[in-house]
Amino acid sequence: MGQNIIGYRDEYQRSLDDPEGFWLDAAQAVEWTVPPTQAFDGGQGPAGRWFPDGEMNTAYNALDRHVAAGRGEQPALIHDSAMTGAQRSYSYSELTDQVARFAGVLRAQGVRKGDRVLIYMPMIPEAAIAMLAAARLGAIHSVVFGGFAASELATRLKDATPVVLVTTTGGLEPNRAIEYLPTVHEALTKAGTPELPVIIKHREGFTGLPEGLELNFTDWDAALAAAEPAECVPVKASDPLYILYTSGTTGTPKGVVRDNGGHAVALLWTMAKLYNIGAGDVWWTASDVGWVVGHSYIVYGPLLAGATTLMYEGKPVGTPDAGAFWRVIEAHRVKALFTAPTALRAIRKMDPEAALLKKYDVGTLQTLFTAGERLDTDTYHWAKKVLGIPVVDHWWQTETGWGIVGNPQGMDPLPIKAGSPSLPLPGYDLRILDGFGEEVAAGEEGNIVLALPLPPGTLTTLWGNDQRYVDSYLGAFPGFYATGDSGYRDGDGYVFVMGRTDDIINVAGHRLSTGAMEQVVGTHPAVAECAVIGVVDALKGQKAMGFVVLKAGVSIDPEVLERELVALVRREIGPVADFKNAVVVDALPKTRSGKILRKTMRQIADGEQYTVPSTIEDPAVIEVLAPLLLATRAPQ
Ligand code: COA
Ligand code: AMP
Repeated sequence: MGQNIIGYRDEYQRSLDDPEGFWLDAAQAVEWTVPPTQAFDGGQGPAGRWFPDGEMNTAYNALDRHVAAGRGEQPALIHDSAMTGAQRSYSYSELTDQVARFAGVLRAQGVRKGDRVLIYMPMIPEAAIAMLAAARLGAIHSVVFGGFAASELATRLKDATPVVLVTTTGGLEPNRAIEYLPTVHEALTKAGTPELPVIIKHREGFTGLPEGLELNFTDWDAALAAAEPAECVPVKASDPLYILYTSGTTGTPKGVVRDNGGHAVALLWTMAKLYNIGAGDVWWTASDVGWVVGHSYIVYGPLLAGATTLMYEGKPVGTPDAGAFWRVIEAHRVKALFTAPTALRAIRKMDPEAALLKKYDVGTLQTLFTAGERLDTDTYHWAKKVLGIPVVDHWWQTETGWGIVGNPQGMDPLPIKAGSPSLPLPGYDLRILDGFGEEVAAGEEGNIVLALPLPPGTLTTLWGNDQRYVDSYLGAFPGFYATGDSGYRDGDGYVFVMGRTDDIINVAGHRLSTGAMEQVVGTHPAVAECAVIGVVDALKGQKAMGFVVLKAGVSIDPEVLERELVALVRREIGPVADFKNAVVVDALPKTRSGKILRKTMRQIADGEQYTVPSTIEDPAVIEVLAPLLLATRAPQ
């Protein structure tokens, strides 16, 4: 690896040896109203606060600042909808104006610094405008992904207690148009807040609110036309910018809290050093604003860097074909694309030879970044071959908000090893520990943990629940943050992330809780108990699969039950759960203390080596179940 690695090593080593100096230097990329004199204060919050005496405004740094620097005419955001065929470009001046005026709309609804604004929207520019407008007021936004159903929205409404909800009449999926307002109405009723003010962006082609239902609503367009622009409100660097709910191991999602200052510093560092993107570059993250990837790299990162961010409403395939990504790259002269490996697998499945790529000039594309799930080696080699550019995996999670392990393209890039996202990024002191907290040798798999403190931009706590934050992440290995992932490092220190150690699964790059699905399946009147596990899926990485034991004396056609359970999970969690299979079994394998052996079940289903724990209550259950589990395995 020779020379290349030295540039990275110096930067990385300094971040560990002198975190104060390293991050105060990085903080100079932000425009502060009060510049920080201290990088970290370990005494605040459950795990410390970054830039405790700094003050700034994130929306100012993402928008006004670039206008003031004379780049007002440069495109800030381009919306390209493969669903409607519409394209729209907003310059930095226009976007700043829209955001300032929508901030005025929010202010007129009573939104003040520290208040919450819930946003339930698909991939339309108004989603980004609403986020930035909340940030402009020093308010805290919480975006809920459109693929979640009313109950999930209600859970988030109850936890975040917003002052206002911003939504739209509809979203577009390839096979259907989704009416949002009935879901919003149901969620508000479930949350016990039917009177909550709702701001609605009307989109063409949607029915809107069905007759008989009422919402306390304001029309987005009318309010915006009449609004007084609102100025940026400076906040403390450690004040929250957003809450983003993510799946935990229980049915109750975790409200990850992100601060303002540390977030801006970290994202600016990544745009320059990890992604090699600067002012004027066109950057495209093909994800959704409802996920962390969308927060960090559709909205905040590229705008903080003064780049042009591309917001794409569509899929990699079927809208209209597997050339959709290549069309967008050509049309907008994209310099770098960030997507999930699933999207690449979907394209490859439809167009294995990438014949459609030849129709387009993608010569502007310099790098393809992937995250959200492991970039399997097959997909890596395919993408590298067809595109002929670096294909760069990086590993992170909602909690960290930016890459933990990556291959910095804005420094001397490291050699890429297929199957590994490369090396820890600055600020992350990564270790692999066994179950007793001892470091394991190179090549040995264990729990991936990060020594405290975590770098800027990572979660500061869970909303309203410091204790859950401590219990979830800091309890298992004292002094370390437990990532919940397992993996190993090779002799060169390269990290290989192999999968979760808990009941979280990853379906098409979407993080889902099998515990939440079990809770729903368990409410079916015929079900005595159930286990939902994630099994390998060639396209989506994993898929959820339910195993249910019927109540004594109940008889129901298994196919009817499966249909009912699929509908139930779709209704209660949402289509994004992608729960399509449920199998009736006589019994579930358990330990003597009653814990269902989900890991063993998954290993059998995935055709992995497994050992049945000695604590099993009845080994015969596994013997009966094994052929059934293996049969669930789709041809890979
Ligand atoms: N609103 C409503 N429904 C949604 C939705 C949204 N925002 N997003 C997804 N869904 C629905 C889909 O329509 C689908 O419904 P169906 O069961 O009726 O077909 C279901 O949720 C599952 O969606 P998905 O897992 O996305 O599967 P898909 O078959 O529609 O598409 C891929 C498959 C691979 C093309 C798609 O998953 C993809 O592009 N993945 C990229 C991953 C990604 O961007 N991850 C974000 C994190 S980086
Ligand atoms: P999310 O919080 O939705 O971003 O999901 C985070 C989880 O997705 C991680 O804990 C990993 O299990 C998985 N993940 C994300 N990116 C990668 C990657 N590049 N390689 C392996 N796993 C990943």
